Amino acid sequence: RQSIEARAEKTLALIKPDAVKHMGKIINAITTSGFSITNMRMCQLSRADAEAFYAVHAGRPFFNTLCSFMTSGPIVALELMAASSITKWGDLLGPTDSSTARQQAPNSIRGLFGNDGTRNAAHGSDSPANAAAELSFFFGKGSNIGRCARCSGTTL
Ligand code: PPS
Repeated sequence: RQSIEARAEKTLALIKPDAVKHMGKIINAITTSGFSITNMRMCQLSRADAEAFYAVHAGRPFFNTLCSFMTSGPIVALELMAASSITKWGDLLGPTDSSTARQQAPNSIRGLFGNDGTRNAAHGSDSPANAAAELSFFFGKGSNIGRCARCSGTTL
């Protein structure tokens, strides 16, 4: 029989530039929903950082808009731990488009704090492989104090 610790899963959450002003409420929602926050940092991504982080979306029509938005101000990266944290955080996030979220999941993070399809308050990893890669991006070896190796923008 697996222990709770063995079943716990880590994922990456990002509080995007439009929602940093709501970070207290978002972090409260995260902790009261049963996640442990096991790492956290605030930084501002450079253009190269954003393009690397969203490389899977390169070539899509929204790629430029998305990277411009994600470099427009500070973000907060959080390592979240819970059983089935990827699904659990996705449920708390709500649908990608904030207007859909307001209709279908009004108490979700995006329903409460998102603005539109681009400025949608927060991000979550969508698979275990992506969670591992995205956590490494922000919290990899040598990056847990101040500036991380991949995040060459300003550490706040
Ligand atoms: S998909 O098809 O499931 O891979 O895409 P999706 O999860 O819906 O979106 C991927 C990320 O791109 C952002 N996105 C957009 N940004 C700007 N403009 C438009 N139109 C747009 N559509 C999607 C979306 O917020 C996702 O960002 P993250 O950070 O992963 O939430």
